[in-house]
Amino acid sequence: MEENKKYYITTPIYYPSGDFHVGTCYCTLMADTLARYKRLRGYDVFFMTGTDEHGQKIEEKAKARGITPKEFVDEFVAKAKDLWKVLDISYDKYMRTTYDHHVKAVQQIFEKLLAKGDIYKGEYTGLYCTPCESFWTETQLVDGKCPDCGREVKEVKEESYFFKLSKYKDRLLEYYEEHPEFLEPEKRKNEMIKNFFDKGLEDLCVTRTTIDWGIRVPSDPKHTVYVWLDALTNYITGLGYTTDEDERFKKYWPADVHLVGKEIFRFHSIIWPAILMALDLPLPKKVFGHGWLVVNGNKISKSFGNYKDPRVYIRDTSVDALRYYLIKEVTFGEDGNFSEDLFIEKVNSDLSNDLGNLVSRVTAMAEKYNNGIIIKNDNLPIEDIDKDLIDTAKQTILNFEEKMDNLKTNDAIAEIWKLISKANKYIDLSTPWILAKQENKDRLNQVLYNLVETIRIVTIPLQSFFVDTPKKIFDQIGVSSEETTWDSAKEFGVLKDGTKVSKGEILFPRIDKSEELFKVEEEKEEVQEDEEDRKGIISIDELDKVELKVGQIKEVEKVAKSKKLYKLQVDVGEKELRTIVSGLVPYYTEEELAGKQVVVVTNLQPAKLCGVESNGMLLAAGDYDVVKLLVLDNNNGTLENGANIH
Ligand code: ME8
Repeated sequence: MEENKKYYITTPIYYPSGDFHVGTCYCTLMADTLARYKRLRGYDVFFMTGTDEHGQKIEEKAKARGITPKEFVDEFVAKAKDLWKVLDISYDKYMRTTYDHHVKAVQQIFEKLLAKGDIYKGEYTGLYCTPCESFWTETQLVDGKCPDCGREVKEVKEESYFFKLSKYKDRLLEYYEEHPEFLEPEKRKNEMIKNFFDKGLEDLCVTRTTIDWGIRVPSDPKHTVYVWLDALTNYITGLGYTTDEDERFKKYWPADVHLVGKEIFRFHSIIWPAILMALDLPLPKKVFGHGWLVVNGNKISKSFGNYKDPRVYIRDTSVDALRYYLIKEVTFGEDGNFSEDLFIEKVNSDLSNDLGNLVSRVTAMAEKYNNGIIIKNDNLPIEDIDKDLIDTAKQTILNFEEKMDNLKTNDAIAEIWKLISKANKYIDLSTPWILAKQENKDRLNQVLYNLVETIRIVTIPLQSFFVDTPKKIFDQIGVSSEETTWDSAKEFGVLKDGTKVSKGEILFPRIDKSEELFKVEEEKEEVQEDEEDRKGIISIDELDKVELKVGQIKEVEKVAKSKKLYKLQVDVGEKELRTIVSGLVPYYTEEELAGKQVVVVTNLQPAKLCGVESNGMLLAAGDYDVVKLLVLDNNNGTLENGANIH
């Protein structure tokens, strides 16, 4: 591997807010796509994501739950890692600001800047937004409220340490001028300069005395380091900066790109470079501020209540479908509307019709006409339609590279789809079925070769953003590893003579729009629960309010129009059987459920699910992948239906 072919890419480190939705996943998916792309190009990639674990908000949330802040963040990290696994995020390091090496490094950085005079002690009077953990000046407020979230701010006054941000104003402006590629997109850079430099750059408060859950200042331990100095430095401490094990820092710093959402772009384009200048360290090569995923113009977020757990989308489609939609349909750098209808349409048109059909038609024809054997014959004349296909194929990967290198991810994918649609047209124009009828074997073989070869070329760049599909396609077209290298996509004719293809499973089954999709009603508590809403400990009286009884499942039928729901008739010791609707279809067959004695919540408010009124709930444990009903074991005799459970 060449020494200079390294690529260090980061996402922001997330707040453990419990509100993971497709919006918050977006940045990580984009970073994953770029990391995969660079790996395919032979780069030595280091991709880091993680969590931003200190601060007042976390302290308060943990207190409300009756747990320690560390327990609170540990819980979140487990959930985050679980989600990244489902989405197949290929990060190399999961960074946490509670790691010992980070804490020590931040303390060293603080003391170094203090000794240098870039950090000094003063008194802070400011307007503070607790949910955003941001201080604002009067002029920055919008209608007297936080400009980021619109909530109330409060005035606080306290002894604080300050970072001399103002000192770096001219150097920063000079740097932007001399490095036009540093901040992207351009319009965000201009907005940021206008909004923040024109009003003057104030020194930045970097410690608090009122927050316990933070990194202590060694020389003045009543202070804890306040948010941005702690959070931003993760990009270097995560590489081992200031430790004896700093090989990664030496190798990967400066970062090639920090991907961040637009609301934190200014922290990364002003504060972070100024801190690095103060530390005499090189600046990252690029900070890219992407837009938000919105629903009807509103940012997807917990406060708007317009979010769902991304697993809901994956459950009803696939990881690759979700990845495709987010990467293709949201212009990188702009806000993008997340529409469930459009998502389904795109899966059906681009994935199922264009890509899926191409692969299944070609492999089916190869099987039908030549037992799946692909013949290569370089002595045949090349027709105009062949030349057109071959030229486009050879150009595709070059165009793709150019677009990806410039972070034009949407255009890059469009290049692949141009070739896919050309290949589908080629089938219509070359009419293999007529060639078969005419027994024109040579031409038929030539056409099939050109098609399978095009599929091979298409699939190589697809590996940048799909995680399951490329392998399935490579298996179906029977290629070996040397036929799937990046550079082999630049040549037409690499596919070996005698390659055996076989029709495999459908890559992207069509989605029936009339089916009820992406429903979360029945999982509301699992999916939408947020730590903020949990009230912590409950009293025994509150627990007593829940009426739990033994029930026996007497009848089971599927709810029409639902993939998940059973309508159950359950005997809970009453005169009549109870109708209870339960999302157990993916986990139990009708036979497995019939006759089981289970735990039933009998005093739950009735709810309509897919048009069927449900009167109660069966208790089950688990999550999306594994769900287990709580069933009475009946080892030593049985309980009567309707028996109370305490
Ligand atoms: O800001 N669409 O963490 P965070 C797109 N801890 N992106 C979205 C989004 C949406 N609807 N909602 C959120 C923080 N995001 C700090 C970062 S870095 C040193 C410290 C993105 O959990 C948001 O833009 O609030 C941000 O980039 C990321 O989620 C993490 O946000």
